[in-house]
Amino acid sequence: MVNVTNCLYRVVVLMILQSLVVESAFIYNVLSFGAKPNGATDSTQAFVDAWSAACASNDSTTISVPKGRYLLPSAIKFRGDKCKTLDITFQIDGTLIASSDYRILGQANNWLSFERVTGVSIVGGTLDAKGTALWACKLAASTGCPNGATSLRFTNSKNISINGLTSLNSQMFHIVVNGCQDVYIRGVKVNAAGNSPNTDGIHVQLSRNVAIFNTSIKTGDDCVSIGPGMKDLWVEQISCGPGHGISIGSLAKDLEEEGVQNVTVRNAIFKGTQNGLRIKSWPRPSSGFVQGVQFIDAVMLNVQNPIVIDQKYCPRNINCPAQASGVKISDVLYRNIQGTSGRAVAIKFDCSATNPCSGIRLENVSLTYRNQVVQSHCTNVNGNTSGIVQPNSCV
Ligand SMILES: *[C@@H]1O[C@H](CO)[C@@H](O)[C@H](O)[C@H]1NC(C)=O
Ligand SMILES: *[C@@H]1O[C@H](CO)[C@@H](O)[C@H](O)[C@H]1NC(C)=O
Ligand SMILES: *[C@@H]1O[C@H](CO)[C@@H](O)[C@H](O)[C@H]1NC(C)=O
Ligand SMILES: *[C@@H]1O[C@H](CO)[C@@H](O)[C@H](O)[C@H]1NC(C)=O
Ligand SMILES: *[C@@H]1O[C@H](CO)[C@@H](O)[C@H](O)[C@H]1NC(C)=O
Ligand SMILES: *[C@@H]1O[C@H](CO)[C@@H](O)[C@H](O)[C@H]1NC(C)=O
Repeated sequence: MVNVTNCLYRVVVLMILQSLVVESAFIYNVLSFGAKPNGATDSTQAFVDAWSAACASNDSTTISVPKGRYLLPSAIKFRGDKCKTLDITFQIDGTLIASSDYRILGQANNWLSFERVTGVSIVGGTLDAKGTALWACKLAASTGCPNGATSLRFTNSKNISINGLTSLNSQMFHIVVNGCQDVYIRGVKVNAAGNSPNTDGIHVQLSRNVAIFNTSIKTGDDCVSIGPGMKDLWVEQISCGPGHGISIGSLAKDLEEEGVQNVTVRNAIFKGTQNGLRIKSWPRPSSGFVQGVQFIDAVMLNVQNPIVIDQKYCPRNINCPAQASGVKISDVLYRNIQGTSGRAVAIKFDCSATNPCSGIRLENVSLTYRNQVVQSHCTNVNGNTSGIVQPNSCV
């Protein structure tokens, strides 16, 4: 009897303690701010208010988005410059949907945008930007289609984590990391049609120390695109396709540009993509450069251009003065790249006449093209090879 009472007493004390813990952990549920999980009621204000409350608290906080569909038709900015806490977790168990009328978001640059935040984690969740009607407008070459919005953007932020998020049918880019430091992206899925215009999966630029792990990207443009000023990027375990591959560039869009340094891509698989591992720059003068890239352990399945450096990138031949690219590319390693090319030329290094590529290294690269002879093509490139290299290297 004594034991039973004692035990009961302990259980009650435990329950009281637990309820205290939950309260002091600052959980803000968007439903209690008026969000409606019915996919039809505009829940923007509830999300904005939950953010303000979380931001103003002085401890670790969680914004909870329970199961259901939440309509967020217009652009939302989550600003962090006045936040007291350095730890906000957005726990999303539901789906955030944009309006199916693309004109509502179309002129905004971003749908969900985090600016100057520190210590923000997004856990789970699906973003459905409903981009298909805008793509159709663009594909029909109609005039008057808006650019469209990036679905999720982090700007000038620090210590960011995105874990297990799914992004569907963005109007423009799915995820952008711009001017950030210490960003950790894991288990993200991106899904858009193979012919959807400008729907890059993850775009990073002007940032430092970004890691992208275990990601699956199916989209209409680059799976990962790496812009000027990206330093210390690690991409591991990524599946790409449909899509345009993993691309450093386009660089040399502007005369004054920061370089790209220390990029590693490991364990990537490309399925039927337009490109595999690509570095591209416009044929224009520029202060930009690419230094220290490692492409290790990649599988190509019917990829149109598995390995490519293109310093004459000039879509539709518009705005390209007849000049060599100012971007200097050096120390790029391709190690253990296997699989099938969709074209005879599986390796193409088309480097700048005024800034030849240097330190290009091929180790154990084996690419085939149906039952035909596979080729490599080199212009203005210096480097060396080791192990098996097929096609025979022109470096
Ligand atoms: C947060 O603020 C509350 C009341 O304003 C205060 O009691 C508490 O000690 C503060 N916590 C921290 C971690 O500063
Ligand atoms: C980064 O933010 C997380 C919360 O998202 C926090 O738990 C962690 O301590 C922060 N790390 C650093 C180094 O500030
Ligand atoms: C990779 O991410 C998927 C979700 O996209 C998740 O289900 C899986 O557990 C993750 N695997 C690892 C090894 O992290
Ligand atoms: C390159 O970046 C990785 C992270 O991706 C980092 O661990 C490493 O120290 C960096 N190397 C140099 C030489 O800065
Ligand atoms: C091949 O190039 C790499 C990187 O530039 C260099 O470290 C290495 O010494 C070169 N090997 C030979 C045999 O030239
Ligand atoms: C190439 O692959 C072979 C067999 O897998 C391995 O023994 C060798 O060390 C590799 N060479 C290089 C340069 O990676």
